[in-house]
Amino acid sequence: MKKISVGISGIGSYVPDKILTNYDLSQMVETSNEWIVERTGIETRRIADKDQAASDLATRAAIKALESANATPDEIDLIIVATATPDHLFPSTACVVQANLNAKKAAAFDMSVGCTGFVYAVATGANFISSGIYKKVLVIGSEVLSKIVNWEDRNTCVLFGDGAGAVVLEQCKDGYGILSYELGSDGKDRDCLIVPAGGSKLPASEDTVKNKLHAIQMEGRDVFKFAVRIMEKASISATEKAGLKVEELDFLVPHQANIRIIDAALKKLNLSRDKACINLNKYGNMSSASIPVALDEAVRDGRIQKGDNLVMVAFGAGLTWGSLVIRWNKEGIDD
Ligand code: UT7
Repeated sequence: MKKISVGISGIGSYVPDKILTNYDLSQMVETSNEWIVERTGIETRRIADKDQAASDLATRAAIKALESANATPDEIDLIIVATATPDHLFPSTACVVQANLNAKKAAAFDMSVGCTGFVYAVATGANFISSGIYKKVLVIGSEVLSKIVNWEDRNTCVLFGDGAGAVVLEQCKDGYGILSYELGSDGKDRDCLIVPAGGSKLPASEDTVKNKLHAIQMEGRDVFKFAVRIMEKASISATEKAGLKVEELDFLVPHQANIRIIDAALKKLNLSRDKACINLNKYGNMSSASIPVALDEAVRDGRIQKGDNLVMVAFGAGLTWGSLVIRWNKEGIDD
C-alpha cells in the first residue's frame, strides 16, 4: 500500500498581551536583567489573564490555523492538545477546544510530554493521516506556565511564559511534508523537571499547597546538560532518517529554553545562528507552544519558503525528546 504523505496545511499562534519584563521580575525576586539575558537570552515573556486557561489560548491559535488551512471546524477529524498545563486533570483540554470550536466530528485527546509535546503530537497526528484513518488533524501546543510557576523561586520563575501554537495536518504532495521523526524518553530522570503534587501520587492537601509542591521544580544544570546532548543527537538522527545531510537543512526550529542550549546545538551541528528560528528573547520558554509559535512567526514573515527542509527538535519533562524533519509546503496540500 502506498504511504500517504502528510504536511502542515495551516498554522497559527496566539500569545497573551501582558508583557512581563526582566526588570519587573527584578522587583519580585533577587535577580537582574543582566543575569537573565546573559544566562538565558530571555528579555520578556507573556502572561495570561487570571481567567485564561490553556484551552482559551489553544482555541485562539486553532482558529488562526484553521483559517490559514482554509478549513472549517466540522472538517476536523481529530484534535490533539500537547500541554503540561491542562485546564483540568480531566476532561482533556482537547475536549474543551472541541466544544469551543464546535468541531462536531472530531475525536479529542491531550498529550503529556512536557516541552516535547508538540513534536510527539505532530508525529502522532500524522500517523492517523498516513494510515488513511483521518483526513484533517488539528495539533496544538498550549501552555499557561505562569499558573504553575513558583513566583518566589528565581531559579525557575524567570524562564517561563504563556502562549499557544497550532497546525492543521493533512495529505500533501509526495516529497513534501513530514519526512521522518524520532521520539524518545528516559523516565529514570523524571524528578529533575517535575510538578510533584496534584496527581494521584501526591494529591492536593494543605501540606502540598504550603510547601509549593504544585509548582515547577527543576534541576536546571542537569536539564541543561541533557538538552545540549540530545538536541544534537536527535537532530542528526531524524535528518539521517529523512535521507538528508545536516548541511541540507534550511532551518532548525528548536525548543526555546535557553539561548545557550540553542547555540551549543547549532555549534555541534555546524549551523549558523540565522538558520535557527529563535523567539525566546520575546516569549521565554513556552514549553509545548515554543516550537509552533516560532514556526508560525518564521512562516508568516516569509523566512520559511516552500521546499525548505526544517528540523523541529525538543526536549523536556519525562525526560523526553523528539525531532521531526519536514520539507515545507506552504499550502500543505496538493497544488
Ligand atoms: O524546557 C525544559 C525546561 N528547562 C530548561 O531547559 C532549563 C535548562 N537549564 C538552564 O537553562 C539553566 O541551567 C538555568 C538558566 C536554569 C540556570 O543557569 P545556570 O548557568 O545553569 O545557572 P546555575 O543554576 O548554575 O546557577 C548559577 C548561579 C547560582 O548562584 P551560586 O550558587 O553560584 O551563588 C544560582 O543561585 O546563579 C544563581 N541564580 C540566579 N541569579 C540571579 C539562579 N537563578 C538566578 C536568577 N537571577 N534568576
